[in-house]
Amino acid sequence: MPSVRDILDTMDYGPAPEANGHVLDWLKAHAAGFGHFIGGEFVKPQGGKSFDVFNPATGEKLAAVAQGSAADVDAAVKAARKAWRSWSKLTGHDRAKHLYAIARLVQKRERFLAVLETMDNGKPIRESRDIDVPLVARHFYHHAGWAELIADEFPGHVPLGVCGQIIPWNFPLLMLAWKIAPALAAGNTVVLKPAEYTPLSALAFAEICREAGLPPGVVNIVTGDGATGAALVDHPDIDKIAFTGSTEVGRMIRKATAGKGLKLSLELGGKSPFIVHEDADLDAAVEGVVDAIWFNQGQVCCAGSRILVQEGIAPRFLAKLKRRMEALRVGDPLDKSIDMGAIVDPVQLGRISELVEKGKAEGGTLLQPACALPERGNWFAPALFTDVEPASTVMEVEIFGPVAAVMTFRTPDEAVQIANHTRYGLAASVWSENINLALDTAARVKAGVVWINSTNLFDAAAGFGGYRESGFGREGGREGMLEYLVPAWEAALKPGQEAAAAPLGALPATAAEPSAIDRTAKLYVGGKQARPDSGHSYSVYGAKGRAIGQAGLGSRKDVRNAVEAAAKASAWASATAHNRAQVLYYIAENLSARAAEFESRLKSMGQGAKQARAEVEAALARIFWYAAQADKYDGRVHATKSRHVTLAMNEPWGVVGILCPDEMPLLAFLSLVMPAIAMGNRVVAVPSPQRPLAATDLYQVFDTSDVPGGVVNIVTGARDELAKTLAEHDEVAALWYFGPGRGSAMAEAASTGNLKATWVSHGKERDWLSREQGQGEAFLRHAVQVKNIWVP
Ligand code: NAI
Repeated sequence: MPSVRDILDTMDYGPAPEANGHVLDWLKAHAAGFGHFIGGEFVKPQGGKSFDVFNPATGEKLAAVAQGSAADVDAAVKAARKAWRSWSKLTGHDRAKHLYAIARLVQKRERFLAVLETMDNGKPIRESRDIDVPLVARHFYHHAGWAELIADEFPGHVPLGVCGQIIPWNFPLLMLAWKIAPALAAGNTVVLKPAEYTPLSALAFAEICREAGLPPGVVNIVTGDGATGAALVDHPDIDKIAFTGSTEVGRMIRKATAGKGLKLSLELGGKSPFIVHEDADLDAAVEGVVDAIWFNQGQVCCAGSRILVQEGIAPRFLAKLKRRMEALRVGDPLDKSIDMGAIVDPVQLGRISELVEKGKAEGGTLLQPACALPERGNWFAPALFTDVEPASTVMEVEIFGPVAAVMTFRTPDEAVQIANHTRYGLAASVWSENINLALDTAARVKAGVVWINSTNLFDAAAGFGGYRESGFGREGGREGMLEYLVPAWEAALKPGQEAAAAPLGALPATAAEPSAIDRTAKLYVGGKQARPDSGHSYSVYGAKGRAIGQAGLGSRKDVRNAVEAAAKASAWASATAHNRAQVLYYIAENLSARAAEFESRLKSMGQGAKQARAEVEAALARIFWYAAQADKYDGRVHATKSRHVTLAMNEPWGVVGILCPDEMPLLAFLSLVMPAIAMGNRVVAVPSPQRPLAATDLYQVFDTSDVPGGVVNIVTGARDELAKTLAEHDEVAALWYFGPGRGSAMAEAASTGNLKATWVSHGKERDWLSREQGQGEAFLRHAVQVKNIWVP
């Protein structure tokens, strides 16, 4: 042990180990192995199998935990279902008391949980003690609040039921809190599967649930690997799956759950840009890099792993960064003055090493300080790649380790361009002392979270989640609560009987003599009427099977043209909300002038006069409602940390594909298209295939209402064929499918490619005339994604 005098002479760090005796005692008490936590009890695994869990910093075995089988998962789901019957009926206040009790116990055990987390995961105690565990407590307190306020804040909403939750190993207890707290606050029960490398803090949490007096079965924890996770995803009695982990597994889960009617949220990978403008405070930005990529050994989904530096300051910035890197201390994570701990597992270490080798082979220059690494355990020194290009592996692929790549840019425009050159969109960090530039960059980067002059900040009051292949759904805040709730009327809807789809244009059995066909409706692309690429049309039949017209038979090519036109109309997104509102009002005005024509069109389809009038009137009212909302459905400012304002901004998706149902062909079409465009999206809409003419009659209304070309594109034809092309199209960011259950399933499965957000009806028909079902905030919410911008 060096003396105080020695330390003052050398100014070296002395050892500062955190005591871990209480954790070792706890592990010893469980030396026989942990069971699953099901129905409030620790139970033996039904298959009798278990696996060992190791300390990544030493390689020592910590414990043996149960390998969950399908039978274990089934027992846990049954326990959760049973508990749900009473848990969901508790008042919000009663649930709040439970969440509050959990928060209190987490706080009381802070030190224990932090040490356990560090031993299981390898992260520095400084992080588990000062970041992970306090945020866990914060999350339960915050959600005790949502439970308390549930009836006031979410009137008419009910919980979903049993939620399956699968979490990763990088923030084991924090991810558990992010999943369990909102689920419970909303009145759901859960079956959670922790990651196989890091299940211990979840098991300690199970003990907390018991001690807090949580009713048995409200929280169930089944340990195991990917197979256990897959069994949970495949279980037939699950109402929601919430997953955080790799994009690859996220895709598998999207496929496996397609058409099952359950709610899904995916928080996946990222390759987040860290943009340093030339007027940034460079010392602060260098500290930012330390927090962005060397925090938690870079095993962070939102790690700032692509550092983009403006050319003029790059040499100075890099020199500072290298100096800072040399000073990072890597080693025993239980040491309180260590900056970087161990990599979670040899497998992950292998993955990092492999990608780094690839980066070198592609010509990148690797900088790594010559720091001494412990002999035992999984270690990787902090690393930085230079001499890379946007298409280099280390710039494109999520490494999930302490490895950043640096590139320069010349202008702010170029920075945004490079930043957005990724399939992900989770987070971004922007550094500039110029508020105009910082906010402009934040607005233009495609990411769910943007930190200005800061990085890796989290709070329960702000939503977290990504754009594009970083997944969909938000965790935290109001948006996060809505992931665990459903309107009561919607929960009560049942799917209708599904007849096999009649081929388009086939003469109905009830057909009378075909009457004179009045005209052939074309498609509507880029603000112009367009002939279908196939050159074919199909007959549309109305009342008593009378042919009332022809519609164009749209194909893949037409969808592609329409998407291209929609993509080009991007100015619509940056038009003012006032401007968009004016256009919508104008649509209503022009439709109103032709109300009689639309009524008679609906009558020709077989609707009674009263019903036709009601539909047109409701359509008009709906357009007015969304015109009114265009400049009112806006964001929020969240109360997060005292030194930040967190702006939750609603951003349009971009191009939205909309498949319309057969019922109420005019009203349903407008009920879907209007909220989408009111929020700044451009749409490619497919009207009801059997009753497309009410929608195609709108071309002239749009033409005369100043709707810019490409904002609304309409392709008629076979719904599912067109839906598939839209689902598979990378330029389409979100897909709404209102139609039969089989088509909903197809749309969900086909959208797996770029993991687009889907909103499908699962064959349940809603009453479009009703204001509750056919209009409202849910439509607006689905029309935007929330970007949280943290401004210091
Ligand atoms: P992973 O995605 O395989 O594991 C995450 C969780 O999913 C674990 O609980 C795992 O048991 C479970 N799982 C695995 N296969 C499953 C399946 N078929 N069905 C249901 N659940 C399944 O991640 P892994 O293999 O541990 O790490 C691989 C890479 O994934 C990392 O290098 C990193 O790039 C990324 N990753 C991203 C995370 C994030 O927070 N976005 C977290 C963890 C990993």
